[in-house]
Amino acid sequence: MLKHVNKELRPHLLLTHNFKTVQHINGDKVRRRVVFKKEAADALRPFVDENSLTLVEEDIEFGFENLKASEALDMILPKEVLTPTGFETVGHIAHLNLDEEHMPYKFEIGEVFLRKNPKIRTVLTKVGYIKAVYRTFDFEVIAGENTFEACQNEDGLPLHLDIAKVYWCSRLAEERNRVVKEFLKPEETLVDMFCGIGPMAIKAAKAGVRVLANDLNPDCYHYLRKNIATNKVADYVIPYCMDARAFMAHVVDETTNAGVLAREAIAFPEPEQSGVKRHKKKRPPTYAEEEKKMGPEEDRISEIPGKQFLSF
Ligand SMILES: C[S@@+](CC[C@H](N)C(=O)[O-])C[C@H]1O[C@@H](n2cnc3c(N)ncnc32)[C@H](O)[C@@H]1O
Repeated sequence: MLKHVNKELRPHLLLTHNFKTVQHINGDKVRRRVVFKKEAADALRPFVDENSLTLVEEDIEFGFENLKASEALDMILPKEVLTPTGFETVGHIAHLNLDEEHMPYKFEIGEVFLRKNPKIRTVLTKVGYIKAVYRTFDFEVIAGENTFEACQNEDGLPLHLDIAKVYWCSRLAEERNRVVKEFLKPEETLVDMFCGIGPMAIKAAKAGVRVLANDLNPDCYHYLRKNIATNKVADYVIPYCMDARAFMAHVVDETTNAGVLAREAIAFPEPEQSGVKRHKKKRPPTYAEEEKKMGPEEDRISEIPGKQFLSF
């Protein structure tokens, strides 16, 4: 129907967020009405007469649902305060990086983001500066549920994390894909010295790569283990919680571990039988079985189980 509205009249159409400009009339499947701005009445008259249409004047109430987030924020914030637009998400959490000027309005800003994004249940803002070693931020909840723990789905892989306790960046997903695709081959071993909660390690493992994954942050180690068990890659990823230097020394030392060399033949099947597909015909392992393969969480220096992990 809109295509019949001529060019001169188009600017008079009432176009607003979450509002149908062309509407069915009381369930009538054929007849419709087009909504124009009130001040367009005079301009519309000749078009209405020419086409034997009816022109009706009506008041329509608009509310919060008809505003975009940026429009709602423009109404709340003083003119001199820049409207915050961008945010990143981790699972059900949206995190913003509000400036000092936004802080007096942080709860109102949080509420707008929460109500305008149905998949979001918690809105946070960063406070303070990044912490040097673990590269974490302090966050404050400004709307919704008081949670920092989320499950991020990265290319179908569930990754658990607590955004206030570990480093995380959803935007690096593509870079992780690129590295796995361009640099790693199945049956190779990757040593990830600063693995965080393990997104790269788990992606690589799913591609049939073995991984020795390490992070100094005990919270990263905790979620790394959880993510290994959740994604059922405990045969492929060995988790560590060590300083990267000590970790590398351990890994290099293990390359001459006679026990490992002797166990090699028993510990791993022939290459063509290995790979993630190994589980295909069998019942998939449970979370508890996967967790058991990693040993107790307090054992942060694992022994390397097979020689195949030693050339990396
Ligand atoms: C930029 S993050 C790495 C993120 C990870 N590669 C990812 O894709 O999410 C750097 C990580 O290095 C860890 N780290 C810092 N110093 C370390 C050290 N001396 N040894 C091992 N890990 C360390 C931090 O805890 C942090 O998780």
